[in-house]
Amino acid sequence: MIAPPHDPALALKLLCDPTRLRILGLVERAELSVGELARALEMAQSRVSNHLRVLREADVLAERHAGRTTWLSLAPLDAAPGGAALLARLWAALRADLPALPEHRADVERLERVLAERAARSGEFFDRVAGEWDKIGVDFATGQARQRAAAALLARESVVADLGCGTGWYARALAPLCSRVVLVDRSQAMLDEALRKLEPLPPGVRVEARRGELDALPIVDGELDGAVAGLVLHHLAELDSAVREIHRALKPGGRVAIVELAPHGEEWMREALGDRALGLDPRDVLRALERAGFQHVTLESLEDRYRPHVPGDDPEARAALPLYLVRACKPARA
Ligand SMILES: C[S@@+](CC[C@H](N)C(=O)[O-])C[C@H]1O[C@@H](n2cnc3c(N)ncnc32)[C@H](O)[C@@H]1O
Repeated sequence: MIAPPHDPALALKLLCDPTRLRILGLVERAELSVGELARALEMAQSRVSNHLRVLREADVLAERHAGRTTWLSLAPLDAAPGGAALLARLWAALRADLPALPEHRADVERLERVLAERAARSGEFFDRVAGEWDKIGVDFATGQARQRAAAALLARESVVADLGCGTGWYARALAPLCSRVVLVDRSQAMLDEALRKLEPLPPGVRVEARRGELDALPIVDGELDGAVAGLVLHHLAELDSAVREIHRALKPGGRVAIVELAPHGEEWMREALGDRALGLDPRDVLRALERAGFQHVTLESLEDRYRPHVPGDDPEARAALPLYLVRACKPARA
């Protein structure tokens, strides 16, 4: 082949070969080594080399040498004079129809794999896909594998309660980490909803739903290793009896975590969300815990915000109320 052909018949002859068209279709997408190209075409290198020689002689392919590797790409045909410009025009007319080649789709899929393997080897692959990884690379049927691996690091023989559980957000976080979760709420409908949302349960966990009041917990003395009370204390008429009940229900050394709203002025929450108090002063919570006999009582503000929907015409309207966490420990027996 005379390179690059001015003669239209020769130029057509050069491109009148499915393998050459497939090669051009691939090197147009990415610069490839000869080995990578052969893998993307699923052909022996010796067979590919003959075609490469023809295309190289016609200046259709550009070569770059790095160490022992020769990298191939489509020559910038547009910028080339004479015969190369003729090839450029022909190629521009043909490339849109490459999908009509029977092998094209498989070529492109293999090319993607070849490029992914190259990127994985160089370590850049995960850098590139980090932002997308949860969409493309993570599909676990149940999520059990991760839950069990995480739970394997912790003492799992614990019994915990989600007090005023509502729809069971805390119970869902706790279930993979312990052996028994006790749901307590005064509303049977909430208990049913929480149970439903806990399905499927992680293996080896028992969940019990017990309807009852925080100031008369349906829990025997010392049954719990831990208890969480999330946004429930502000529903109570007074704190002391509920906090004493939590103390009674915990084992010596057991812990309680309380999430509450700081005092706020959103009056509408009384009616719309059934709130009795508009938040709680954290000092009142700390004092009630200490009065009940808890130790190591600590207070932390949380970066989180409680964002209930504000009733009205705007479906997007939400409050953003500060939250705090109080932790405390029932003293271990001396
Ligand atoms: C605001 S919801 C919080 C639910 C859940 N803890 C959360 O953070 O998503 C309050 C829940 O406490 C329950 N509750 C209110 N007063 C209660 C009481 N005295 N005893 C038991 N449950 C109560 C309600 O039925 C409701 O399900």
